[in-house]
Amino acid sequence: MEKTITVLPGDGIGPEVMKGALRVLKAIESRFQHRFTVTEMPIGGKAIDETGNPLPPETLEQCKKSDAVLLGAVGGPKWDGMDQRPEHGLLQIRKELNVFANLRPVKAFSPLADISPLKPELIENVDLVFVRELTGGLYFAQPKGRSGSDEAVDTLYYHRQEIERVVKKAFELAASRTGKLTSVDKANVLESSKLWREVVNEIAMSFPDVKVDHMLVDNAAMQLVRNPAQFDVIVTENMFGDILSDEASMITGSLGMLASASLSEEGAGLFEPVHGSAPDIAGTNTANPLGMVLSAAMMLRHSFHMNEEADAIEMAVQEVLNAKFRTGDIQTKKSRVSTTDEMVEQLVYRLEEDAAAA
Ligand code: NAD
Ligand code: IPM
Ligand code: MN
Repeated sequence: MEKTITVLPGDGIGPEVMKGALRVLKAIESRFQHRFTVTEMPIGGKAIDETGNPLPPETLEQCKKSDAVLLGAVGGPKWDGMDQRPEHGLLQIRKELNVFANLRPVKAFSPLADISPLKPELIENVDLVFVRELTGGLYFAQPKGRSGSDEAVDTLYYHRQEIERVVKKAFELAASRTGKLTSVDKANVLESSKLWREVVNEIAMSFPDVKVDHMLVDNAAMQLVRNPAQFDVIVTENMFGDILSDEASMITGSLGMLASASLSEEGAGLFEPVHGSAPDIAGTNTANPLGMVLSAAMMLRHSFHMNEEADAIEMAVQEVLNAKFRTGDIQTKKSRVSTTDEMVEQLVYRLEEDAAAA
């Protein structure tokens, strides 16, 4: 198959982990006889430096006409306090592509059980997915801004339709898995959460086989570390999903392990790791590339319907971890520390090896 991919490496460790994902996609191309045409474009801080705009119109146009978009990460101290922020580029591309449903799977990797700060017996059966609303809520609604030096406002607004479309996706996903959905809100305080809960209950009537629970977000934060295996699909508004998914990354042992897929009803999906640009380790070839690589696998699965190819990448990740190759963030006392590039080499070696054996 021939597919076009717009690649947005971004800032900090973004380009370092993106290089790894592209190397892995090359291995997939030759093993499965596909052709991926990759166009690299600037976003975030790099785009501010080059054009003064964190999402240049050329970048947006290229994304819109491609089959999928891969993104590394944006931001860094260099652009703190500037009028233009790298993160605006990211929010804008999400809005422009209308990728309202952000899937963030969290699965315990058995070889990493000993590096998670949670007890191994708590995480061994964890296999959950966040469905985070991505284009509404506090991040986008007006009024938003400063008024003089003493006042600032952000607005938590949701329209029923914005809730319906993401909740429906979450129900469909739950129906295709174990049939359990937890909707997380703050309906004891927030009007937008009361509407959210109402919509969830209405849509539940069309999915009689899905068991729905409502959970308040403060309790959900606690339950995620008390007993994460109780969850299957978790649907929640934009900011709650942002915070809870970073918390849940500790089930795997590192934020560097988590991948995501941001999907719309039609058009290009956006695939990016959950982590940021990690300025503290940028430029050192020490970043964990697995969240980015697994995001590329999600792209193959969700946008290109290449399930076998996505499975091959996920299997290679499992094998590399089994063989105890580790970047610093997932290191154990017994494992030697590998660089970003070495982790990628190990993945590619296994993808090629398995192809030769087949
Ligand atoms: P971060 O996710 O960049 O880093 C948090 C911590 O996790 C750091 O200690 C970092 O070293 C570590 N970490 C993150 N990814 C890692 C990886 N792949 N391998 C090893 N360690 C990893 O979050 P932050 O420090 O709060 O934010 C830094 C910048 O990134 C900010 O400008 C923020 O806005 C931006 N950010 C961007 C995205 C994105 O582009 N999607 C997401 C989150 C944060
Ligand atoms: C994420 C990030 C972004 C978000 C920031 C950088 C705008 O934290 O993708 O999780 O909050 O959505
Ligand atoms: Mn985040």
